[in-house]
Amino acid sequence: MSLKTLILAAGKGTRMKSELPKVLHKVCGVPMVQKIVDTCSKIGSIDNILILGHKKEEILKVLPNVDYVVQEEQLGTGHAVIQAKEKLKDFDGTIMILCGDTPLLREETLKKLYNYHKETKAITTILTSIYENPFGYGRIVKENGNVIGIIEEKEATSEIKSIKEVNAGVYCFESKELLETLDRIDNKNEKGEYYLTDVIAINVKDGKKVEAFLLEDNDEILGINSKIELEKANCIMRDRINLQHMENGVILIDKNNTYIEEAVEIGQDTIIYPGALLQGNTKIGEKCEILGNTRIIDCEIGNNVRVESSVLEESIVESKVTIGPFAHLRPKSHLKEEVHIGNFVEVKKSVLEKGVKAGHLTYLGDATVGEKTNIGAGTITCNYDGKNKFKTTIGKNAFIGSDTMLVAPVNIGENALVGAGSVITKDVPENALAVSRSKQVIKFDWRK
Ligand code: UD1
Ligand code: CA
Repeated sequence: MSLKTLILAAGKGTRMKSELPKVLHKVCGVPMVQKIVDTCSKIGSIDNILILGHKKEEILKVLPNVDYVVQEEQLGTGHAVIQAKEKLKDFDGTIMILCGDTPLLREETLKKLYNYHKETKAITTILTSIYENPFGYGRIVKENGNVIGIIEEKEATSEIKSIKEVNAGVYCFESKELLETLDRIDNKNEKGEYYLTDVIAINVKDGKKVEAFLLEDNDEILGINSKIELEKANCIMRDRINLQHMENGVILIDKNNTYIEEAVEIGQDTIIYPGALLQGNTKIGEKCEILGNTRIIDCEIGNNVRVESSVLEESIVESKVTIGPFAHLRPKSHLKEEVHIGNFVEVKKSVLEKGVKAGHLTYLGDATVGEKTNIGAGTITCNYDGKNKFKTTIGKNAFIGSDTMLVAPVNIGENALVGAGSVITKDVPENALAVSRSKQVIKFDWRK
């Protein structure tokens, strides 16, 4: 296939009113421009070239390996394409041009557009759609059913404004013709910009074949220029993602109030309650229950896990674990099967072996806890001396009484028992009892 794509992403995005470059705003967790590049990579194009300008360094941080050219001054979409001239001059094929701000476009749509362009042997093919309220988009002007040009909102007369077929901002061009025609566009318009869309009228004058490929689903071509449109795109994308999960067998109680990012995988019969936020490369197994007010990011979760009102980050949770309410798993934690962590328990960079229970008000950091050990309420691994972090190791079947401070580095042996309220600074051997607290004193009738 002789296809290259060109993605325009140099503009300031003034209407977005943001410090962040417009195309880096995220739709369901993915920066718009990244989404477009990903989609383009799937349609068999041999090169995807970005046009970058405004805050290009920030965009390159997100897409470090992308091929790009710089448009120093943003003088319009036509001017943007001219910047790629050097790169494209020896290329004899089709160039698909897209905008960095239309993240909802589907792979199938782009493939269909390309095939249509090839089948009709057009020089230029424009992706179009019908909008009841076409405000802001370029209008497709036709004569006897043939496209004769695109007119932008700013230049549109009231008659043109009433046209509902709009330019999606996606086109297929034959490269040689495009490069020649671009030399002939000017900036004599309301915005003083070089419009890529002016190429169409020139094509028509030259007697070249221009086609419009009409897309039924007009949601797909939504261009994101403002925060209002960004919210709209998030809603549409969220719906797509959520419907797909339900089709795969996931139960969503309220699809409009469940926030699942694109890369997340969820197994059959898992129930997701309203208000859940599932992010990054999270994988959730089957028959889990994820209750509201839970945020899970980059975690791997087994089957039959229940999580309530908790935050889980970059951790592994095996099957039949229960978490929460109000627990916090911080990065690099690993909860093995049947572990329970409950109310106000924080775990960081720790391994909790099978069946460990820490039900209440506990901090376990840089620790390993052996199978079936019970951690009493208010236990804290004191892992930090102000400069360095130290490890706590607790053997299996141990019992740590409530309100215990385990001053790391420290080891508690298998089957050991630590009395409530202890401050443990020395290792406790297996099977031993350790108590470290002042003896209780009673003074009778003291109040009198
Ligand atoms: C553009 C189209 C319009 C179409 C709409 C679809 C033109 C003149 N108009 O309008 O017909 O209906 O998209 O969404 O093409 N950009 C650059 N360099 C520039 C200017 C823009 O790279 O000098 C980039 C922007 O970063 C953006 C894209 O091109 O990603 C489109 O620019 P934008 O200003 O959003 O164009 P629209 O006014 O939406
Ligand atoms: Ca736009």
